[in-house]
Amino acid sequence: MRRVAVVGAQWGDEGKGKVVNYFAKEFEWIVRFAGGANAGHTVYVHDRKYVNHLLPCIVPDGPGRGFLGAGMVVDLQQLVGELEALAADFPGVGAKFAVDPEVFLVLPWHKQQDILLEKMRAAPIGTTGRGIGPAYTDKASREGIKLCHLFDEQMLKERLENSWHMKQILYQGQLTMPPAEVAAELIRLRDRLTKLGVQFTSAVDMGNVFRSTSVLFEGAQGVLLDLDFGTFPFVTSGSCMAHGVSSVGFSTFELDDVAGVLKAYTTRVGAGPFPTEEDSSVTQGIRERGKEYGATTGRPRRVGWLDLPGLRYAAIRSGLTSFVITKADVLNGLETVKVCTGYRIDGVVRDIPSTSHDFFVAEPVYVELPGWPSTNHVNFLKYMTFIEEQVHVPITYISYGPKTDEMETKDNLIMSM
Ligand code: GDP
Ligand code: IMO
Ligand code: MG
Repeated sequence: MRRVAVVGAQWGDEGKGKVVNYFAKEFEWIVRFAGGANAGHTVYVHDRKYVNHLLPCIVPDGPGRGFLGAGMVVDLQQLVGELEALAADFPGVGAKFAVDPEVFLVLPWHKQQDILLEKMRAAPIGTTGRGIGPAYTDKASREGIKLCHLFDEQMLKERLENSWHMKQILYQGQLTMPPAEVAAELIRLRDRLTKLGVQFTSAVDMGNVFRSTSVLFEGAQGVLLDLDFGTFPFVTSGSCMAHGVSSVGFSTFELDDVAGVLKAYTTRVGAGPFPTEEDSSVTQGIRERGKEYGATTGRPRRVGWLDLPGLRYAAIRSGLTSFVITKADVLNGLETVKVCTGYRIDGVVRDIPSTSHDFFVAEPVYVELPGWPSTNHVNFLKYMTFIEEQVHVPITYISYGPKTDEMETKDNLIMSM
């Protein structure tokens, strides 16, 4: 009855999808609990690439099942599209998924609002345009629509009418899809999901199911993009922390492991502070070798060096108990690699930022370590030991390529050296 949460330890795209997919065979349920289709989680199934935006990274022809938990914001059109694409390769796969009817829906309006808001901002965030901020805003302001509202069509229509009325005042008539059309579309999508075999099952209906079995929680984004503790306002609007497991009735105390996925260097998509960012021929090479282009938007990811103060901050804020390191293979062949060990803030070097604002003013302090020709080399082992000693979180697994089986325990790596 193992329960493990996998969360991003940086600014997202650390390889969570691959890591979750690797562990998926050991778990009966894989649960997404936050975020929406802003996520892009890349997995390989029988050497074929899939990018999951909403679907948990189950093994489609394995025994495990996927659950979309209540902390998510779900775009039903996107969900249907993703499921249909997967079902074309794995017929009947829809029946392996259940969605909590308490999830909030991302409506067509939210995507329009996302674009309009970005245009109005003096400093745009560089959102994914997937309607995430406006959907979470409607949740907090109590105008949102939940999946369970689609089963009470009268109530759905009334709520949509009212929300449309308010939004058209706020957005001066710029939104285009009238509520009757939205309602009809949502009902159509609900019925398509039913046809695909998806179950609408709340965490309450699940009763003791999750408690009596093994559950792997799949985080989205990364701690530094968390709404509360990330580099606000350049963050997403949901929780990126392990705490999100509460949406299916668990406390973090009940988790056996909170595994932070850590890329051997750092990337970020969109705007916001990034102390170790470097634009040089070396980091451009890393971008190309690491295929650092957004899985959701295709934007080039900003690239920089490993940031230990950022990792220490993430480890404390999200209670990380282990690390999985990914993409060190991308650094193969570099003579040296830079690692940021401290932030100089107001002339004083600090190990860790105390507030999210410190990321905006930090100047990185670097050490330079010897590079490695391959991840079997002792210099990579030293790199990992350095991270462990500096952050006080053990690295348990190493991912050395995008394919699911390109992963091993650190102990095995040491034995094979
Ligand atoms: P996620 O959002 O955290 O799931 O990560 P993404 O899927 O957005 O981005 C990670 C990218 O790196 C994907 O293209 C993966 O296929 C790839 N990837 C994951 N782990 C490794 C690794 O260890 N080495 C290499 N070279 N690529 C990896
Ligand atoms: P995964 O799960 C990387 C970033 C966006 C933008 C900010 C706000 O694949 O790691 P939003 O659309 O959420 O309002 O955008 O957050 N962002 C991500 N960056 N990986 C992600 O998810 C992200 N999800 C959102 O680029 O800067
Ligand atoms: Mg991603």
